[in-house]
Amino acid sequence: MAGVDFLKKLGVKFPIIQAPMGGGLSTPELVAAVCNAGALGSLAAAYLTPDQILNEFRQTRAFTDKPLNTNLFAGGYRAESVPDTRPMLSLLAEVHETLGLPAPVLPALPPDPFPFQFEAVLEARPEIFSFTFGIPPGDALKRLNERGIPAMGTATTVEEARMLEKAGVSAIVAQGAEAGAHRGTFLGSFESSMIPTLDLVRAILPAVEVPVVASGGLMDGRDIAQSLALGASAVQLGTAFLVCPEAGTPEAYRRAILSSRTDATVITRAFSGRPARGLRNTFIDKLHGKENSILPYPLQNILTRSMRSAAAKAGNADFLSLWAGQGVTRARSVPAAKLIEQLVSEMKEAGVVFQ
Ligand SMILES: Cc1cc2nc3c(=O)[nH]c(=O)nc-3n(C[C@H](O)[C@H](O)[C@H](O)COP(=O)(O)O)c2cc1C
Repeated sequence: MAGVDFLKKLGVKFPIIQAPMGGGLSTPELVAAVCNAGALGSLAAAYLTPDQILNEFRQTRAFTDKPLNTNLFAGGYRAESVPDTRPMLSLLAEVHETLGLPAPVLPALPPDPFPFQFEAVLEARPEIFSFTFGIPPGDALKRLNERGIPAMGTATTVEEARMLEKAGVSAIVAQGAEAGAHRGTFLGSFESSMIPTLDLVRAILPAVEVPVVASGGLMDGRDIAQSLALGASAVQLGTAFLVCPEAGTPEAYRRAILSSRTDATVITRAFSGRPARGLRNTFIDKLHGKENSILPYPLQNILTRSMRSAAAKAGNADFLSLWAGQGVTRARSVPAAKLIEQLVSEMKEAGVVFQ
């Protein structure tokens, strides 16, 4: 089925997906603007409670009647071996003092929210569901299937793609090394799963029968055309949408992206305990050489939350996670509908024919 535009079957005009971007970035306004412009918008639900998920759906549905994707983290809880927490707490205490915050407190590990979030997703009935960090537990994929909701899983290697297909997904997001934010890796080591996007698409295509979506470092219509020419059925772009005015990106984060003149992104575990790509900043540098004291995901993520929120409020990019992909220098600050119009026109210039 590779090469077939599976999105068209769902009623989506263009083979372009706006990536789900957790933490309030892919707002209902952004998602709806993308959907209304003929691409597929994705609500990021991984950091939301079930009530918040239903609420975001309601808000988005009020702005658009087009098909929607929603996304959860299906796995990644690796907090079984927590190192000595004192070095991280003392390092963070210094940062908290700079930001005028009370000293950090070690959070208790909350239960994996996936099962509760998933019930809310089923209630909200998105037209498509995507996930990353693993494979949904139990009969989740079966329940989606019974409701006619296609599921899209994230792979960073051929082995992961094969496993996702076996588990019953309808499409695979091939997340290449260039991608912004967290790596979806769930089988091998993170280091051995850093495959450039187009190489990954090339490798996954002959290994599976389901459609493959290219994701990572794609910023313009030429990049998209190249991915489609290789056999990808669609593309998923994150960083390209981060500076649209409809995105919830804090001002300091926006400025950091728009002032990037070279690819200053690095892979870091500093903010969340899980490898993710973002613009290098003070906090990443502060943890350089101290990687052993970083707590596992999601503890480190919870622990750094007040620092990140305070930094965002203060317009301080030093202590904010500035997730971005390697195409960051090519981000364009235009409304989502305009961006999609530009992407489509560039795709046409690059030879993509739309029926
Ligand atoms: C700020 C940000 C947040 C992201 N959050 C999620 C998420 O919640 N779920 C997910 O499946 N992917 C998430 N991603 C990864 C995207 O799905 C996609 O793989 C990535 O953005 C592609 O690389 P690009 O940013 O270079 O386009 C995120 C990406 C960014 C940039």
